[in-house]
Amino acid sequence: MMYDYLIVGAGLFGAVFSYEATKQGKTCLVIDKRHHIGGNIYTEKQAGIDVHKYGAHIFHTNSKKIWDYVNQFAAFNRFTNTPIANYHGDIYNLPFNMNTFHQLWGVVTPDEAKEVIERQKQQAGVTHPTNLEEQAISLVGTDIYEKLIKGYTEKQWGRLATELPAFIIKRLPVRFTYDNNYFNDRYQGIPTEGYTHIIEQMLEKSDVRLGIDFFDDKDHYQQLAKKTVFTGMIDQYFDYVDGTLDYRSLRFETELKPISNYQGNAVVNYTDSDTPYTRIIEHKHFNFGTQPDTIITKEYPSDWKKGDEPYYPINDEKNNALYLKYKQRAEKETNVIFGGRLATYKYYDMHQVIGAALETAERALSHDQ
Ligand code: FDA
Repeated sequence: MMYDYLIVGAGLFGAVFSYEATKQGKTCLVIDKRHHIGGNIYTEKQAGIDVHKYGAHIFHTNSKKIWDYVNQFAAFNRFTNTPIANYHGDIYNLPFNMNTFHQLWGVVTPDEAKEVIERQKQQAGVTHPTNLEEQAISLVGTDIYEKLIKGYTEKQWGRLATELPAFIIKRLPVRFTYDNNYFNDRYQGIPTEGYTHIIEQMLEKSDVRLGIDFFDDKDHYQQLAKKTVFTGMIDQYFDYVDGTLDYRSLRFETELKPISNYQGNAVVNYTDSDTPYTRIIEHKHFNFGTQPDTIITKEYPSDWKKGDEPYYPINDEKNNALYLKYKQRAEKETNVIFGGRLATYKYYDMHQVIGAALETAERALSHDQ
């Protein structure tokens, strides 16, 4: 049988596209090289707890349309992301807000906090930041930089802040209210049955084959359908002809602890440079779990080389220029649609992926009527 669409990647982009296509009576074959659906939002039950296998995933959006869309597939709880920072055993609230400023300096009012930040910025005397350290200090002063930004950022990028370009930090949100909510969006939560359950429903009417790498037999898989939706790495699709796009990678270390509560919060960032990981996630707190045991994951940033899991694109000038070359090739490719974070070389939050997949599906399906 000839499918209407071959969808490479059972992640969020591929799943939304396939749901929209099958809803309109199209047939879809979805393949994924992993042995599970969901891509990076995959959650797996362990000891009764939904474990976010590829890092903390908190759904948030300002769009009622996107919020209503995901709510068709899941009930969401009232989780609000309120991460904390651990700097050498001292605890600070994030994002930077009045609670943080009180913890740092004992200040109580917004004016007092603004005065400290302004004074530190003046004392640093940075007028033209030439690297990330100077940029951060010019935005929030020395204390916040030293305790909450420096170590974390250096671990994230594997380089000293003085060797990192200033453009990485364009702005640093500073809030002069006692508000620990990390996101500003109107809607936020965690699906009570886990993210995998959402993807399962989206893929219900598609044929799904797992453990299949598209590149093992690209021509064969493409011949199974009239069109391909490709959500893998764009440079790999073109056999790296123009060069390899760079990424940062992550390594996750997950442990079951025979205690009910390990750190009292879903996300704790370790902002000193001595601790080798950037954060610890305690999964049960995403769902207000009351299980007798707990599961934690330590997140270690790492360099990336071909074959490693690509997590964060490095959108510097060199890589953006290279991506543009691949994008031009992609535009000439007939009957192939490129979408999702890997095929567009872009960091996308979940709501953005859904929005992009809905737009892509609408365009593609209206042509195919
Ligand atoms: P995704 O990578 O999920 O799917 C692509 C799929 O294609 C994968 O399953 C892959 O195996 C498959 N594939 C690739 N090449 C293939 C090939 N050759 N053959 C077959 N299959 C192939 N967002 C948010 O809103 N809130 C949050 O809190 C977070 N947190 C977060 C933490 C971390 C650590 C990261 C890295 C990312 C987030 N995100 C997030 C972003 C979120 O993960 C992201 O928006 C979606 O997973 C992107 O979905 P895609 O379908 O685009 O890619």
